[in-house]
Amino acid sequence: MTNRMQDKIVIITGASSGLGRATAELMIAEGARVVIADTNREAGEAVASAIGAQFARTDVGNPEEVDALVAATVAQYGRLDVMCNNAGVIATTPVIETTDADFDRMVTVNFAGVFYGTRAAGRVMTEQGFGVIVNTASNGGCSPSAGMAVYSGTKAAVVALSKACAIELAPKGVRVNTISPGTMLTGMVPDVEGIVGILDKIQPIGYAANPSQMAAGILFLASDEGNYVTGHDLVVDGGATAGRAAVGT
Ligand SMILES: NC(=O)c1ccc[n+]([C@@H]2O[C@H](COP(=O)([O-])OP(=O)(O)OC[C@H]3O[C@@H](n4cnc5c(N)ncnc54)[C@H](O)[C@@H]3O)[C@@H](O)[C@H]2O)c1
Repeated sequence: MTNRMQDKIVIITGASSGLGRATAELMIAEGARVVIADTNREAGEAVASAIGAQFARTDVGNPEEVDALVAATVAQYGRLDVMCNNAGVIATTPVIETTDADFDRMVTVNFAGVFYGTRAAGRVMTEQGFGVIVNTASNGGCSPSAGMAVYSGTKAAVVALSKACAIELAPKGVRVNTISPGTMLTGMVPDVEGIVGILDKIQPIGYAANPSQMAAGILFLASDEGNYVTGHDLVVDGGATAGRAAVGT
């Protein structure tokens, strides 16, 4: 490790598991102080204690809680260097069977949650004159799949929101980017129905990603190595959206 995040103050939402946890671990290994913000207190406190982070129980769909998270972090450390709006939820159903409750949940967590986090961090960072925001989208935002209409819509919205924010905030010294992961085997996508075997046939790099492979992309965007990158959607998906590997060969 090369101390690429030495003494940086970082908030990561949805870091009680999966990609958020992997990102927290990598950031800490690179020297950062990390606040894990998640609704899952039990898992979040266990992860925080295991990796040397701090836990703040936060529902990203609640703007008051998100504002309080950012305010408490700045009160404790004096600044906020990086905000990773990563928490997300999914319901995979055909569009005509999608319930109002599932629609509301995905829009509230995946889109409104990213907006609340970007706004709260953006206010602090523009005041400071520096900061980086990395929002987690999905390759489903640019290349949707059946059964994921609302999820894909929220992720496309995250990319558009982030690009607009990048344009607005660049003159204030704040960068905003997205990462669009392909399939990772996390709590969100367990290996149900042998998804790994399917990827083997249709995706150029034919296996599901380890979250640490995605965290490396987030680290690049968040660190000074990415200091000329803003308004970018970094797709890390084993080539899935480049095209299909041959089927039936
Ligand atoms: N797993 C994949 O294949 C995949 C692919 C593309 C994009 N993504 C995105 O990556 C991000 C991380 O997902 P993951 O795969 O690590 O899933 P995960 O289920 O392992 O982690 C999601 C975390 O978000 C937390 N969370 C849920 N609702 C919340 C809320 N309202 N407030 C705060 N925290 C909340 C959960 O408790 C959990 O810890 C998500 O935005 C997801 O959409 C995942």
